[in-house]
Amino acid sequence: MQHKELIQQMTLLEKCALLSGDTVFTTRAYSKHGIPAITLSDGPNGVRKQAGAADHLGLNPSVPATCFPPAVTIACSWNPALGEEIGKAMGEEAAAQEVSVLLGPGLNTKRSPLCGRNFEYFSEDPYLSGKMAAGYVRGIQSNGISACPKHFAVNNQELRRMASDSVVDERTLRELYLTGFEIVVKEAAPKTIMSSYNLINGTYANENAHLLQDILRRDWGFNGAVVTDWGGSNDHALGVKNGSTLEMPAPGGDAVRELLKAVETGKISESDVDARLDELLTLVLDTHAAVENHSRSFDAEAHHALVRRAAAESIVLLKNEENLLPLATGTRVAVIGDFAETPRYQGAGSSAVNSLKVDTVLDNLAHSGLQVLGFAPGFDRRGRADAVKEAEAVALARQADVAVLFLGLDEIKESEGLDRGDMKIADNQIELLRAVQAVNPNTVVVVNAGASIETPWLKHCKALVYGALGGQAGAGAILDVLTGKVNPSGKLAETWAMSYEDTPAKEHFAGKGRTVQYREGLYVGYRYYQTAGVAPAFPFGFGLSYTSFAYSDLKATSDSVTLTVTNTGSCDGAEIVQIYVAKPDAKVFRPVQELKGFEKVKLAAGESKCVAIPLDDKVFRYWNTMTNAWEIEGGRYEIRVGASCEDIRLTATVEVAGTGAPNPYAGISLPHYESGKVMNVPDAEWEVLLDCPIPDDTVKIDCNMTLGELKHSRSPLCWLVWLVLHTMLTNSYKQGKPNLNVMFQYNMPLRALAKMTSGAISMGMVDGIVLEAKGFWGIGLCKVLVEAVKNAILNAQLEKRLRDA
Ligand code: BGC
Repeated sequence: MQHKELIQQMTLLEKCALLSGDTVFTTRAYSKHGIPAITLSDGPNGVRKQAGAADHLGLNPSVPATCFPPAVTIACSWNPALGEEIGKAMGEEAAAQEVSVLLGPGLNTKRSPLCGRNFEYFSEDPYLSGKMAAGYVRGIQSNGISACPKHFAVNNQELRRMASDSVVDERTLRELYLTGFEIVVKEAAPKTIMSSYNLINGTYANENAHLLQDILRRDWGFNGAVVTDWGGSNDHALGVKNGSTLEMPAPGGDAVRELLKAVETGKISESDVDARLDELLTLVLDTHAAVENHSRSFDAEAHHALVRRAAAESIVLLKNEENLLPLATGTRVAVIGDFAETPRYQGAGSSAVNSLKVDTVLDNLAHSGLQVLGFAPGFDRRGRADAVKEAEAVALARQADVAVLFLGLDEIKESEGLDRGDMKIADNQIELLRAVQAVNPNTVVVVNAGASIETPWLKHCKALVYGALGGQAGAGAILDVLTGKVNPSGKLAETWAMSYEDTPAKEHFAGKGRTVQYREGLYVGYRYYQTAGVAPAFPFGFGLSYTSFAYSDLKATSDSVTLTVTNTGSCDGAEIVQIYVAKPDAKVFRPVQELKGFEKVKLAAGESKCVAIPLDDKVFRYWNTMTNAWEIEGGRYEIRVGASCEDIRLTATVEVAGTGAPNPYAGISLPHYESGKVMNVPDAEWEVLLDCPIPDDTVKIDCNMTLGELKHSRSPLCWLVWLVLHTMLTNSYKQGKPNLNVMFQYNMPLRALAKMTSGAISMGMVDGIVLEAKGFWGIGLCKVLVEAVKNAILNAQLEKRLRDA
C-alpha cells in the first residue's frame, strides 16, 4: 500500500466519504490531511470543463476548448501516433484548465451501426480500437494527468443504457469486447478506467468481480482507479468490494452511509475500503501535482492546425470514377449543401465541446484555388422537402464543371442517449443528389456523419469522400483533400453494409426488454460479412488514394511479417498495410480471418519501403471455455497482407505450435457459429454457446425499473410521471429535436434518482417509490416522506461530522 500512513490517520467516515464525488465533476478535499479535490471532465474529443452549472449530457456550456475530431474519424487514420499527438494536445488543454482526469477515449466495439454513440468509438475491431485508444492514453497522460478509457464494458447501445443487461458468452466477451481494453491497459497503463452503466450477464459492470477483479486487476495487472459512469453505481459497497474505486457524480450522504454500514455489518471489510482509497489517493495526489505544475495556457492556433491535419489524414476516399478528384486549380465548382455552411463536426451529448472556433467550407473556399460559381444550401437540414432550394442548387450545378455536394447526418441523428432509427441519409438530400447529377454528371459527394450509412445512391455520384466528423477545422481538411493538397490516406474502421437488414445484430439490438442478447457471438462487422459471405457496400479497411501501391517480398514467421510496399503512382501518399490471420482448417470455429496487425506507410512517388510488422501474443490465441484460458490451436495459419479485408495482396503460411488444449466444441453441433451465418441462431444453439439458459427478459418492478417503464407499474402516480415524460419525448420527436434530458430520464432506472441528485434523494426514498409502483400507494408515499425527512437530517449530521473530523 502506497499511502498506508495517510490512510491510518483517517477516520472510517472520512475514508468512505472520499470514495464518492463531492460535486458533479469533483472529488472531496480534506485540507487537514493534505488531500486536494480533483476535477474530472469529459471528454473523448476535447475538454468539456463546466465552470458553471454542471451536467453530464453536454446541456450546459463549458469553457471553450479545441474540438478535435471524434474517435470515429481518427480511427480511419489507422495511425496510433496521430492519436497520441491528439491525446497530448487534449491533455495539455485539460491540465491548463486544471482538469486531472480527462474522461476518454471511448473504445466500445461497434456492434451495430445504429448505436447512438458510435461516433465516440473507434471501430468494430478490438485490435484497431485498442491500438488507437492506447495512443490517446499515452498522449493524454504525457501531461501527468489521467486518461479514462470507457465504457468498460459491453456497452453498445443507448436504449435503456443505465440498466440493460448485456448477455454475452465468455469467448465473445474476451475476444471481441474486452481485447481492446486489454490492449489499452497493458500498453498504455491508464491511471483510471470508467466502468459502464450496463449489467453483464446479470451483474452490473461496476460491481462485477469477474470483470473488475479477475480480468482487469488480476489478469491485466491494472492498479489504477475504476471510476463509475455518471450514475452508474448500483450497490456502492459491492462496487468497492469488487474493485470500483470512485462513485460519480455526487451521490451525497446516502452513499457514504451505505459504505459505512457495509463495513460495520461485515458486508465488506475495512481493508476493501483501504485498497480502493489507496488507488484513489495515488490518482488525486499525482494528477493534482501535475496540474499544479502545468502551464495555464496552450497554443490554440497550433491545436487548430493539428485538428486540420488529423482530419485530413483520416478522410476516406470511397469512390473516384474517371479520377474526377483531385480538382485542379481553377476548376469551376458549384458548392451545394447546407453542411458547407453549417458543418457537422462533432456528436451530441457529454462529449460535445464548446469549440474555440469552427471553420466552414464556405469560409475556406477563398484559399482553395477553386473557382467557385456560387453556393446553394440545396435542402432543408431537418429533412423537409424544399423545391425552391433544390431548384436553386440544380440551376447552379448546371453551370459548373463539377458540382460538390455536402451531405450528411444532421445533429439530432447522432447523440448520446439515443440510438439511430436507420442508416439512411435523409430522402431530401438524396433527391437533391439525383436532380443535380441529372444536370451535371461530374458530381462529387462529401459525407459528414459519425457512423456508417447506406449508399444505394452511389451510382448518382462519380466521387464519394467520407469526412466523418472533422472537429473544428474539419472543413479545411475536406478542401485539402478535394484539391489534392492532401492525398487521402484514410481507410474505413467499420464496414459499410449494403443495408441495415444485412447487419448481424439487428434481431437483438435495442430490444424492448431488460436483456440484450449478443447472439451473433464473434460475428460482428467484417468477421460476419466475410464468414457468412454477405457482400458489404464498402469493406472494412477500404479507402482509395490519388496514387497506387504495390506489395511484394512477403516474409512471415509466427513473430513478424516483413514486406515491401512501393508507391507506383505519380504523387506522394500513404498506404495502410493490414495483416489478417486465418486458419482455413481450424477445428475450433472462428471467423474466416481477423485483423492482427497494421502499419501506415508514407511513400513519396516511386518510393519503396521495407515494412516490418511485429506479431504479438494476440495473433493466434482464442479463448477456450473449457480450460478458461487463452489457448492456441496448433498447425498452419495463413498470414494475409491486404489493402482492405477484401483486397488481400500477399499470403504466406506459418506453422504455429499449439497449446494442446482440448477443443471445447468437440462433439457439439453449432452449425450457425461454424458457418458464421448467425442471423437466426435458434435458442438451443445459443444456449450451448452461452453455457446457461437464456435469461428472463420481463420488466420487474424494482429499483432498476426505468422511468420509461413506469407504465408497467401499478400506481396511477407513476403512470402520470410516465405519461408526462412520454408526451414530452414524443412532442420533441415531432418537432424533429429529441429532448436529450427527457430521453436520459426515460432510460434512467429509479435507483439513479438516488445517485444523481447530490444527496437530495436517498435509496430509502427510492424504496418508497418502488413500493408505490408495486401498488402500495399509501405505504409507498409515507415511506418516501419519512425517508426524505430522515435523509435531510442524516445528511446534515454527516456533513457536520466530516467538518468536525
Ligand atoms: C457518459 C460518460 C461521460 C459522463 C460524464 C455519462 O452520461 O456516459 O461517457 O463521461 O456522463 O459526463
